[in-house]
Amino acid sequence: MSRIETSTDIVADQTRAECAVISLSAVTREYTGHAGTVRALDTATFSIVAGEWVAITGPSGSGKSTLVNLLGCLDRPTTGELRIDGVDVSSMSPAELDRFRADKIGFIFQQFHLIPYLTSVENVMLAQYFHSMTDEGEARAALDRVGLGPRASHLPSELSGGEQQRVCIARALINNPPILLADEPTGNLDAANQRIVIDLLQGLHAAGHTIVMVTHDPEMAGLASRRIALNHGKVFCHPIGGPVVNLRR
Ligand SMILES: Nc1ncnc2c1ncn2[C@@H]1O[C@H](COP(=O)(O)OP(=O)(O)OP(=O)(O)O)[C@@H](O)[C@H]1O
Ligand SMILES: [Mg+2]
Repeated sequence: MSRIETSTDIVADQTRAECAVISLSAVTREYTGHAGTVRALDTATFSIVAGEWVAITGPSGSGKSTLVNLLGCLDRPTTGELRIDGVDVSSMSPAELDRFRADKIGFIFQQFHLIPYLTSVENVMLAQYFHSMTDEGEARAALDRVGLGPRASHLPSELSGGEQQRVCIARALINNPPILLADEPTGNLDAANQRIVIDLLQGLHAAGHTIVMVTHDPEMAGLASRRIALNHGKVFCHPIGGPVVNLRR
């Protein structure tokens, strides 16, 4: 029997225990409704180390959003253990979980989820408010970083799709979370805005953020350092882009 192992594997194996920011052990999520029970995620076991950029791919209904909701502490496993930054999230109360989420995770969604009657800077300040206290200067600086300083006083309806996505990125980053979760971050964007978002994500990865990104786009998936494929709730992890490949027999 042969096994292909890349340098990414070796480094990940050595550092995984100390550096895992996300670690799943036999995590299952079942939904029970009037039509019966659906096992949307089936005994998933894997970990993501600090600074990795992971792409989650898979067909519609394979469990991607289910997994992202669990990683974002928006939902809890039916069974199994999920640890984020070393903490078993199932042991936390809802209030502790809210606090933990605000500290650890920034969300970038395909549907931007901006508050329609708040300006760009107010939308960013809302994330500050939920975390600790608002600071308009910092919020404006975050918008400057994504190239939106001149749009700080615009409402979402007065922004292009790409600009709205950049407000979301500023909002996701404002509390400096170590983990960024993105669900189809370029799904609604034209090529030029897609490029801007890719450049921002690459900058964040270079700055040490851990990025977990759901994408249907092979070009986006190719930017990640590792791909996790889902099929019918089953997880298949495979490294991509590893510079050295050793074939062991
Ligand atoms: N609240 C729910 N109740 C019952 N079944 C659900 C619920 N949410 C999701 N499912 C089922 O779980 C499975 C996984 O759903 P999920 O939303 O995670 O898929 P996905 O990979 O994100 O798909 P898409 O690419 O279409 O967004 C699907 O078969 C779906 O029908
Ligand atoms: Mg989905």
